[in-house]
Order: sequence, then C-alpha cells, then structure tokens
Amino acid sequence: MTHLSPVETLEAEHRVIQKVVAGMVVLADRIESGGEIDVALLDRIVEFLQIFADRCHHGKEEAWFFPALARRGVPSYGCPLGGLTMEHQKGRQMVGEFSGAIRACERGEEGAREKLVKALRWLATFYPNHIWKEDYLLFPLAGKFLTPGDQAELAQKFEAVEREVGHEVHERLTQLAKELESQLYSGPNA
Ligand SMILES: [Fe+2]
Ligand SMILES: [Fe+2]
Repeated sequence: MTHLSPVETLEAEHRVIQKVVAGMVVLADRIESGGEIDVALLDRIVEFLQIFADRCHHGKEEAWFFPALARRGVPSYGCPLGGLTMEHQKGRQMVGEFSGAIRACERGEEGAREKLVKALRWLATFYPNHIWKEDYLLFPLAGKFLTPGDQAELAQKFEAVEREVGHEVHERLTQLAKELESQLYSGPNA
C-alpha cells in the first residue's frame, strides 16, 4: 500500500516522465547532428511512454482522478479536464508517430532521421507543457474539491492500476529514467 496521496503519486510519476523527456532531448540533438540511432534504446522509450506514461499515469488520471474531480463539480468539458484529456489523445497519436519513425529508420527510408527528430522534439515539448498544467493548474483543485474519503478511494484505485500493470513492469520502466539520467545528461560528460 502506498503512503502517498493521489496527487503526490501523480506528481512523483511526472518527475519520472520528465527524466525520460530530458533524455529524449539529448537523443534528438545527437540524432539531428548525425549521431547513432540506437533503435533498442528508442524502443525502450516508446515502451516507457506507452506503458508508464500512458497506460499507468494517464490511465490513473483519465479513469479515476479526472472523474473524481468531475463528480465534485469540476467541469468535465473544456478547461481543464476536457483539454487535458484531448492532450492525452494527441500524445498517444504522437507516440505512434515516434514508433513509426523508428521503424522507418530501421528500413533506411529517406527522411526517416528527420521524422524521428521531429517526433522526439514534439514529445519533449508536449510532456513538460502538459505536466506543468497539471502540476500547477489541476492538482491544486484536488485539495479544494476532493474529500478525505475521495482521496482514500483514489489511492486504492491507483494501487489497483499498478497491480494490473505489474509492479515489476513499473520498476523496470522507472529504471529507464534513471539510466537515461545517468548516461545522457548528468555526470562529468553532460
Ligand atoms: Fe495528464
Ligand atoms: Fe499527468
């Protein structure tokens, strides 16, 4: 059982996503300047975005957190919940494009490298913007709208999402964030 509040759990996941995004910026720079395209690493990033960022994190938000706020009076259409949900959908689509660009690079297609850089840069801009809106505009609403009972129920629902995905999968994907941080943008060579 987690000791974190629902908002603290979502915030902690944002910090993990930001670490992967910071790695993606470094990779985009390297690939743009003609560096190696490490397909295995890029595929691990796709898996992270699809499972950790989308299924686990956006899943908790869309299936439980946003509806809990809506039940307590936050409008479910427009700003903020409708807009954030649409951003999740756009993010999903762009992760698909990122994955497609990796396959195109593997096939040696013309323009594939540029496509890959574009997808990396789009996602590396999207996640921080989306996260900022949630951290500073959405999450403060939780304290105003959700009761202690709502919060306890959400914590249980979040735990159920984790169980369904598997704690070992969560750990493995969190490890990628640490690896990217230590190998790509921190330490003496950063
Ligand atoms: Fe979100
Ligand atoms: Fe989020």
